[in-house]
Amino acid sequence: MENQHAFSHRDANVGHRHIRRQITSTSTNYTQIKEDIQAALTDSQSFWPADFGDYAPFFIRLAWHCSGSHRRSDGRGGCDGGRIRFLPEHAWADNTNLDKAIRILTPVKQKYPEISWGDFIVFTGNTAIESMGGPTLGFCAGRQDDSDGSASVELGPTPEQVLLANCTLNGNCSIPLGTKQIGLIYVNPGGPLGVPDPVGSAKDIRDVFSTRMGFTDNETVALIGGGHEFGKTHGACPSGPGPSPLEDPTNPWPGTCGTGALKGIGPNAYTSGFEGSWTDTPTQWSNDYFNNLLDFDWETFIGPGNQTQWRPTNASAPNIRMLTADIALLHDPIYKSILPTYANDLQKLGTDFAAAWYKLTTEDMGPQSRCINADAPPPQEFQNPLPAPPANPASASAVSAAIKSSLLYTANSNITSDSSENGGTWFGTQFVDLAYQCASTYRSTDYRGGCNGARIRFSPEKDLPWNAGTDQILQVLESVKTQFGDALTWSDLIVLAAQTALADATSGSSVVFDFAVGRSDALDGTQSISFPFRDYYETVDIAVTDSADVVGLSAYDVVALAGRPRSDVEQKRRGLFGSYLNGTSKLTNAYYNLLLNQTWTPIEGSPSFLALSSSTGVYESKENPGTYMLDSDIFLLSNATYKDIVEEFASNESSFLVHFAEAWNWLLLVDLHEINTGGANT
Ligand code: HEM
Repeated sequence: MENQHAFSHRDANVGHRHIRRQITSTSTNYTQIKEDIQAALTDSQSFWPADFGDYAPFFIRLAWHCSGSHRRSDGRGGCDGGRIRFLPEHAWADNTNLDKAIRILTPVKQKYPEISWGDFIVFTGNTAIESMGGPTLGFCAGRQDDSDGSASVELGPTPEQVLLANCTLNGNCSIPLGTKQIGLIYVNPGGPLGVPDPVGSAKDIRDVFSTRMGFTDNETVALIGGGHEFGKTHGACPSGPGPSPLEDPTNPWPGTCGTGALKGIGPNAYTSGFEGSWTDTPTQWSNDYFNNLLDFDWETFIGPGNQTQWRPTNASAPNIRMLTADIALLHDPIYKSILPTYANDLQKLGTDFAAAWYKLTTEDMGPQSRCINADAPPPQEFQNPLPAPPANPASASAVSAAIKSSLLYTANSNITSDSSENGGTWFGTQFVDLAYQCASTYRSTDYRGGCNGARIRFSPEKDLPWNAGTDQILQVLESVKTQFGDALTWSDLIVLAAQTALADATSGSSVVFDFAVGRSDALDGTQSISFPFRDYYETVDIAVTDSADVVGLSAYDVVALAGRPRSDVEQKRRGLFGSYLNGTSKLTNAYYNLLLNQTWTPIEGSPSFLALSSSTGVYESKENPGTYMLDSDIFLLSNATYKDIVEEFASNESSFLVHFAEAWNWLLLVDLHEINTGGANT
């Protein structure tokens, strides 16, 4: 039987051809939208009456939960895509009753088809904060709505998530999952696995906010405390919110507390099961949360929702409540040391909260150049800003001519050639290889990585086992870099060397490679995105299909890119036995015919860069000993969708070349966001 890959519900055109429905227009009138949102904040609806007559805290929670699903491991999640409207996120326990927030906002959104839901939800969160006197840094527009929730299936709870990252003890999930508990945005408010242990809760908070999401301790404290300056928790009685959207899609979470017209709503609402607010001014920005935490002694009690929560022991205290995850901030020495700063300095809290909120809601948007509104804040550290590219970059054709005349066929003491065709040596495969390793760090999930920045020149990227030999190829390219000086960046050079090699390898055919310049060089490797979490993949099939999904490749792209010129010499440098090489400087479909027409035998104990449980990374041809394939190649035969395309390319070389050029050009250009968004670098 065919070994169908894990995500077989997707058709051949997955990845960058995900259908994206709504893209915010550059002419969107935010002033008008803001006015309508402001009006909606205090327009209490009978189906979900506003607490304190103001929906602002509720809408902040919507924006936070929409954004907070983003995880650094693979860049998935976040409000870009607007998938909180769809399953699976829609039904998460943590998102209980947020369907009502979306329903309240829908009439406003309907007036403005020119803004995406993702942008609208985050913009609503900003408007809500500002309406209560709170600070914001600004807004980055450009989220594009998905037409369904499929890009969140790996966040869980779904069979796809179990295959990719099984969480055997829900409440104690590990990376690559972004959360401790599937169905919650981050940590359990009631403490680890629901046990009201503030010390353990603080550990969970640092684990998820810092390790999995990249916040500093200061940012974490500012965010949690700043967020909980507003609003309240809901848990009026023990009997819960009623059926979830999975159990009753038409009327989810109707609420079970109370009776009569207000059954399940207003004072009878049940969302998390906890009850009460953190401050006695829940619709005003302040630093009371921090003062309350520090000024009072706190004890546990069982609230009306039958959950353990915390209340002050002091008789003079206002009627306020805390969650175990709030009290946790008192039980960690570093978090605790930050609290007085914010308790004493509202201004400082404002600055730090605004910056952290912007990071929280914008981290999945990639570089600042992707913000489509002119008044977006300047590049922030979390957006991995690159220096400006050269104002007058060297012409691509001049660089390419230099590469062709002095490097492509010229013997070089730094590297061994792969092919001795055409009366000389050919180094093209190694140039292609370097560019591929450089570019394939790109993640379409949050638009990070890619060859722009050329971070592959630095540790840690260049030291990864699959990048062994990078220094030698860079040394080969050095002479052309010197020739053009500052007008040529390393990242443009790496890409142009590959394009030159590929144009050479396909001369005589009609395929065209894109010679765009405009990349810039990072100053170090600190913001490197290594290939999507190779350390976590259990099996080769998950590794191939999931990395393709994260990079944004369709099935055609995956199979076409596998047929790129690949260097035998390079593979040996990586400690592999070698790899398919057709011994020619011409790009042909020989790879696919070889793959289909040999008997491939696993070499026991050969390493795999792809998967933890795989003991076999290399396969050898029985008919042609000394010819090798990697486990990722062999997988193309055991997956129906890929195999079908292998067969097509094997019999139709021009189909291969066309698909290859399309996939390659896409991958090598996709991180030039200025070009993609119609900016200056064309
Ligand atoms: C409400 C937990 C972080 C903003 C809530 C509720 C819980 C909770 C249980 C009550 C939901 C309900 O019953 O209605 C947590 C935990 C956090 C966290 C465990 C992290 C450790 C944040 C952050 C923000 C935020 C980072 C925003 C910056 C809010 C707001 C509400 C709220 C505004 C009030 C919603 C309303 O009034 O309807 N949170 N939260 N929370 N949270 Fe958080």
